[in-house]
Amino acid sequence: MFQLPTIIQGGMGVGVSNWRLAQAVSRLGQLGVVSGTALDALLVRRLNDGDKDGAMRRGMEAFPFRAMARRVWDEYFVPGGKAAGAPYRLAPMHQRNEPRKLSELCMMANFVEVFLAREGHSNPVGINYLEKVQIPHLASIYGAMLAGVGCVLMGAGIPLQIPGVLDAYAARQAAEYRLSVNGAAADFDAKMRFDPADYAEEPLPALTRPQFLAIVSSNTLAATMLRRASGKVNGLVIESPTAGGHNAPPRGKLQLSETGEPVYGERDRVDLAGLRALGVPFWLAGGYGSPEKLHEALAEGAAGVQVGTAFAFSRESGLRDDLKKELLARAAAQRGVVFTDPLASPTGFPFKVAQVEGTSSQASVYEARARLCDLGFLREAYATADGRLGYRCSAEPVENYVAKGGAAEETVGRKCLCNALMANVGKAQIRRNGEVEPALVTVGDDLNTVAQFLAPGASTYTAADVVNKLLGGMRPAAA
Ligand SMILES: Cc1cc2nc3c(=O)[nH]c(=O)nc-3n(C[C@H](O)[C@H](O)[C@H](O)COP(=O)(O)O)c2cc1C
Repeated sequence: MFQLPTIIQGGMGVGVSNWRLAQAVSRLGQLGVVSGTALDALLVRRLNDGDKDGAMRRGMEAFPFRAMARRVWDEYFVPGGKAAGAPYRLAPMHQRNEPRKLSELCMMANFVEVFLAREGHSNPVGINYLEKVQIPHLASIYGAMLAGVGCVLMGAGIPLQIPGVLDAYAARQAAEYRLSVNGAAADFDAKMRFDPADYAEEPLPALTRPQFLAIVSSNTLAATMLRRASGKVNGLVIESPTAGGHNAPPRGKLQLSETGEPVYGERDRVDLAGLRALGVPFWLAGGYGSPEKLHEALAEGAAGVQVGTAFAFSRESGLRDDLKKELLARAAAQRGVVFTDPLASPTGFPFKVAQVEGTSSQASVYEARARLCDLGFLREAYATADGRLGYRCSAEPVENYVAKGGAAEETVGRKCLCNALMANVGKAQIRRNGEVEPALVTVGDDLNTVAQFLAPGASTYTAADVVNKLLGGMRPAAA
């Protein structure tokens, strides 16, 4: 039985809500959520770094398809870790017709993250995906389900097709997913298919259908998800534009404030009475990381809250220690600054950026980085003039993007989130000239409130400190 959590620790990619953080939260009886974004690339880097604590080995040894685990291990594990100045290996970029080894890597990486988050307790663990990062979905979800994921959460797009995918896998069937293809005619074949039987080395195991929570930002989207999704939507996370990570753009024509940030208005407010009337559990997100806000959410009829920023700075999160330290110190002094950047993300969604020296939040750092695209998770699929599928990212070199039919103005101010987010968790790529990919940290508008979790004189806090503080001394359920 899935008990509704009061606190959902929000998924934070890439690798910020890693298995350690999710495990810590789930052990306390709340819902720990691993980020499922770019886990394949992250696994490659963890193996390239020699898997010093043996966690990847442990996870991969538990993977049911043994020969596959061996193949992935042999391909990417570097005993003792790669040399400090050496670059990380790159897996191929995702494409509709995935090379088999990439699907295997993806399945493995999602399995390992969920398996590790579930170790040592019997409470549910969730996984979060961005709908926009479409191509890896089918293999990723199967890997997570093989590891017994209890809940799939998805936003940053309209994840109508996902509930049906969960149903198919639980019925030991193949699943399909139609890619969004820019400029494609109605009859363009954009279907992807994943049949677990093509990968299994033994009869397919029985899998439980995880709960599905859609992350949305408006009543309209909430209703659409419930009415049109391909299977059951078990609940909703309602995210306001103060939340860390990507935000939904404001309704209507985009207007920018004096500081250059999107202006949100009355039309962007969620009607809570309307939400309650939908009759499914919902959690409120975006600035709900305090006991008072949790109380307020419960009083509004929410099942609880989803919190990100507060957990991002806990000891268990994957965010680099130096970045945590710097931002926590700023928050403690009420000097943290967060900019809602309307351009940075190649997805086109506003993206919250903490202002930190030495990261791409600074114009000088951003401009000094040569544009390049070698991870490619945020590439959009488009139809070429001769009816084939192409892939482009508005943060790639401008001439390449334009040669692929993209508009030059779309490239202005775009930042390579793939490489930056890897850098945020200590997995920065090193370039041939020795340059190291810069970080770019995302946090919510409420950054300065995280100091509330620091005990007097302390400079760090744990996920349990956050959970206990939010629950205001209520006794959390034991694992
Ligand atoms: C560092 C960071 C990364 C995030 N990444 C994701 C993500 O990959 N997918 C997602 O759905 N939400 C993401 N979010 C949003 C959180 O899951 C959560 O909804 C949000 O942080 C709640 O608002 P708060 O930051 O005010 O607590 C991210 C938030 C942060 C702070």
